[in-house]
Amino acid sequence: MEAAYDTVYKRRATLYPGETRDPSLSIPPMSAGSLRPRPLEDILFSQGFGTRRVCAGLVQQGLVMVQGQPCDDPLALFVPEGLAFTVQGQSWQAHEKAYLMLHKPAGTECSRKPSAWPSIYTLLPAPLRQRPVKGGQPGVQAVGRLDQDTTGLLLLSDDGAFLHRMTSPRHHVPKVYEVGTKHPVDARQVERLLAGVVLDDDPKPVRAAACEASGPLSLRLTLTEGKYHQVKRMVAAVGNRVETLHRSRIGALALPEDLGPGQWRWLGAAELTLLSA
Ligand code: URA
Repeated sequence: MEAAYDTVYKRRATLYPGETRDPSLSIPPMSAGSLRPRPLEDILFSQGFGTRRVCAGLVQQGLVMVQGQPCDDPLALFVPEGLAFTVQGQSWQAHEKAYLMLHKPAGTECSRKPSAWPSIYTLLPAPLRQRPVKGGQPGVQAVGRLDQDTTGLLLLSDDGAFLHRMTSPRHHVPKVYEVGTKHPVDARQVERLLAGVVLDDDPKPVRAAACEASGPLSLRLTLTEGKYHQVKRMVAAVGNRVETLHRSRIGALALPEDLGPGQWRWLGAAELTLLSA
């Protein structure tokens, strides 16, 4: 009865604001539970479309289409994973767990309660901010934080184990930063960043896992920790100053060139595999 995931995906007519389509998308890992048919109202609830009562109401009012067909029975059964539906004309595809990448633009804060700039969470559609999370805050969470003026690759998920693995210092996930500097970069600065510099909050030196001058006024720096303002403080410690900062890679996953600032998309199975490599 269910169309293959790829077929369903290609059939989607519209994208949420900011969402881009990844032609290589394939089914992310899923539990056996997500292959068991479930009532439509439960599926909508699990995807963040409101309380169970609200979701049942949306279906009863004829506001939901499933795989292109109207469905007004909240208890109609469907296999959740990959199910394509629309709610009030907006297309959605069910994912048991959400794994996303976002190209963070400058001038946004990675906080749900930002102090001065718009939150990155406003770049995501409401269901991703509202989907229920067992024993946790609703919605997806960012994997670590980037400063307000930093741009580039940010991952988000509602999978606690994934969030933990990606942020745990024990896992040393390398992150690559493209740094624009105020003063010319010299070989001594690169050597010192590789050898380790002492920051003001910890006597233990922190070192770059890799560092090279990528131009007269730019550095490519790889870090495996995520201390507060770490790149800015390390560059300052060697007598230079960060003017621009962009994260281009997390582990083996690079920010795709076709994902513009402010855009997001689901991570596919191949991309999740790159992150666990
Ligand atoms: N290091 C910084 O200084 N800022 C960031 O946003 C990320 C790493």
